[in-house]
Amino acid sequence: MGMKVTLSIIKADIGSIGGHTVPSPELLKICTERAAREKGRLLIDYLVFHCGDDISILMSHQKGAGNQEIHAIAWEAFRASTDKAKSQGLYGAGQDLLVDAFSGNIRGMGPQIAEMQFEERPNEALMVMAADKTEPGAYNLPLYLSFADPMYSPGLLLSIELHAGFRFVIMDVEHTEGDRLITLDAPERLYDIAALLRDTHRYSIESIWSRKYPHEPAAVVSTTRLRNIAGRYVGKDDPVAIVRTQKIFPATEEFGPPFALGAFVAGDTRGSHNLPLMPVPVNTPASTFFCCPMVSALGISMHDGIFTGPVDLFADPFWNQVRDQIAVKAMDMRKQGFFEPAMLPYSELEYGGIVTRLERLDKEFKLHAGAAGDGDGKRPRGGAKHAVKNNKGKVKARGR
Ligand code: 13P
Ligand code: MG
Ligand code: MG
Repeated sequence: MGMKVTLSIIKADIGSIGGHTVPSPELLKICTERAAREKGRLLIDYLVFHCGDDISILMSHQKGAGNQEIHAIAWEAFRASTDKAKSQGLYGAGQDLLVDAFSGNIRGMGPQIAEMQFEERPNEALMVMAADKTEPGAYNLPLYLSFADPMYSPGLLLSIELHAGFRFVIMDVEHTEGDRLITLDAPERLYDIAALLRDTHRYSIESIWSRKYPHEPAAVVSTTRLRNIAGRYVGKDDPVAIVRTQKIFPATEEFGPPFALGAFVAGDTRGSHNLPLMPVPVNTPASTFFCCPMVSALGISMHDGIFTGPVDLFADPFWNQVRDQIAVKAMDMRKQGFFEPAMLPYSELEYGGIVTRLERLDKEFKLHAGAAGDGDGKRPRGGAKHAVKNNKGKVKARGR
């Protein structure tokens, strides 16, 4: 029996150099030193890295998910980093710390968090992912293909351990009464899973589980939508994820081709556009090409909670060609500027200007009496007021 280990990855944008680019080395040092102090105490091991302007702290420990002491390590690291970021004049200093006082659980306070507890396999293989300039649903398509589609994931056919398929827990992050979950088994409910996951703004994979070994978690994704906390745009949600690979799960390399697709996701400049998700090496700065969404993945081996590695999974030469193709896709999309789908629909627009503009324009509209096919011309046709409300009925996002 392996040791019971919890992995917690907590990520925040604490501020970055010259725009939304990279955290300063000093911020990374503060976070590393805070985690290092706990190694051999609260933590078994840790790893600090960044993707674009977001700092991730990965921690292994035996305290279980949602533990106050573990969350406090990340919170304190981010708080101390915020002071430094302010003193350095970094852009968006403390951006993701949406509340002042730590309430005991970092969930709902701004940082992204994904945690899983499991009994360690003798050769525990892990993949840890961080994305920048995008949303939690950005992992929907690649994880759907890796865990449910034999066209991409041959292990579903070739390995008896994977024949039963996987269980998807999907979160609705835009429900009027708060976040809610649905559990659906692949392959039986494949079309239901697909019908939800295609809407990456509203539905996000929260976790995936083995069906042959139902207590074995396969993947966890952070699902926090910052605007649901702050009530306004404060930056994109830039999700992190932990995936267990090999043996009873898809192999590490079976995740490559789904990520190489470079699926269009929401995010980019001002969190208001669609561009392809580009796999990049770890610690890559955000791109000045319109903040094209990016994802990095670290391969890690773990034994007794201690990490060996990481190996940078999107750094081998093959990915240069993938990136070149995705860059072409991104440049083509940018050519159509603000026209949908290059810019997001109003229901997803984050920085406030255009929303205010539409509210103003709404008042100038007059009913078009007697137009062909319009009956008496009084049928409401969904003007700007309609368009700028999210499905919580709240008008979104004032700009900063
Ligand atoms: P971040 O959410 O990564 O800070 O990016 C904000 C943004 O709008 C970049 O244009
Ligand atoms: Mg930022
Ligand atoms: Mg970011």
